[in-house]
Amino acid sequence: MPVGWRIPWNGAGVSLLLWMFSLNFVCANCEKSTSALTVIESSEPSDDDGEAHVDSEEDPEDMKVFQPTDQWQTVRPGYAVPAGSHVRLNLQTGLREVKLGEEAPLRYWRDGQRQGMVNTESPSFTAQELKKALKQFKEGAEPSKKDKEKEEEELRAKFRPMEELKRDMEQLDLLVETDFQIMSRLISKFNSSSSTQEEKVSALLDLEYLVHQVDNGQDLVSMGGLRLVIDALNSTDLRLQESAAFVLGSAVSSNPHVQVEAVEGGALQQLLTLLATERPMGVKKKLLFAIGSLLRHFPFAQSHFLKMGGVQVLGDIFRASGGGPLRVRVITLLYDMIVEKELISQAGLDPIPDASHQERLRQYAQISLLPLLAEQGWCSLVPEMLASPEHDWREKALRALLAMMPNCRPQYQQNQALTHSLSTLQEQYQELALSEQGLGEEEGYFGEILSLLNAVLLKVR
Ligand SMILES: *[C@@H]1O[C@H](CO)[C@@H](O)[C@H](O)[C@H]1NC(C)=O
Ligand SMILES: *[C@@H]1O[C@H](CO)[C@@H](O)[C@H](O)[C@H]1NC(C)=O
Repeated sequence: MPVGWRIPWNGAGVSLLLWMFSLNFVCANCEKSTSALTVIESSEPSDDDGEAHVDSEEDPEDMKVFQPTDQWQTVRPGYAVPAGSHVRLNLQTGLREVKLGEEAPLRYWRDGQRQGMVNTESPSFTAQELKKALKQFKEGAEPSKKDKEKEEEELRAKFRPMEELKRDMEQLDLLVETDFQIMSRLISKFNSSSSTQEEKVSALLDLEYLVHQVDNGQDLVSMGGLRLVIDALNSTDLRLQESAAFVLGSAVSSNPHVQVEAVEGGALQQLLTLLATERPMGVKKKLLFAIGSLLRHFPFAQSHFLKMGGVQVLGDIFRASGGGPLRVRVITLLYDMIVEKELISQAGLDPIPDASHQERLRQYAQISLLPLLAEQGWCSLVPEMLASPEHDWREKALRALLAMMPNCRPQYQQNQALTHSLSTLQEQYQELALSEQGLGEEEGYFGEILSLLNAVLLKVR
């Protein structure tokens, strides 16, 4: 078990016997433990060297731990004093003096990574003493336990008792506004004639954050906030228009109750009117967002939208936006409507459809978007989007092309520019899909676009 021993020096009758133990068995979790069992043969050090040396062959840097005796001795600068020693300052010399603390035949000491055991009474450890030393060592060298206790103490000092915390939380609760209170405050702020435009916009943006929640959206209606927001669409201030459209779109998203209220409140008409006139891009994006949210899963609004000339308005935006980002939003909006109806029809194949489903089917049956799209030139508008450099836009265009196939196929087939760009893209995506597979992606994004291309080409060639 001893990995080495040595008598480091022998001066003035003081000899030191050093036992070094590999302490891994004592302290399995200590990282890099440097430990030693030390026996001091005589507690009378020589005058020229007041220290009892603890030696180790491994790391001379670790040697600098002062081993006190039962006499006061001066500690040289740079030496560490083991825990439990008595230390005093010699006011004349300004140096620290140290002696052993409470007498114990076996002293455990610890200094950073180093730890050791000193036998202060006898020149060597008997087998019995060695056992005892090791036992104390284990206890003394149990850093996890001691450190844990220390940590817990520190934590206790840092954190307040639970009772105190609870009390604080209760007081906080009294101070914290409910969403309802906040919305009420924001709506008043927005509705106040003394608020600046800046404050109104800021109130709307805060509202937008809150109305995503279904309950808050419905509260917006009951508080009269939805009415104010719809009216704000007609504001002469563009930022107010934009923010109002943003709030409206978020409030109606996945919230059928608010969708109905908004449509009954004339929001759809208002949004379309604004879209049909010249607006900055930012405003139009939010208007399209609000319209899309209003129409989603709401066939009643969709058929109104068609009757009000919504497709015409979207076509104008598409044509006017050149290669701009509004195009992809317009196409996405139309595509979503087409697919939504298809999915409902497929679900209608269910053997025992319930009554509400029958009603929905009836409502969707009244929406005839595809013929209208073909009639208004979308069979040649959508292919224009394939010229976009964005993969994402091309993908959306391809999906829309496929969705419109039933009504557009003859036109696609006669469109030479379309078949040409489809073939070019096919080559391009074959390569991209291959490199994608080379990277280990079997069902990658480019592969998906390639499948779409193949599917379209199959029908138009
Ligand atoms: C907005 O203000 C007007 C008059 O200042 C008031 O009549 C109306 O009730 C207010 N609306 C809301 C929702 O607070
Ligand atoms: C919007 O404002 C215009 C005038 O700027 C007005 O003619 C129109 O009636 C208003 N529409 C609504 C719904 O308030």
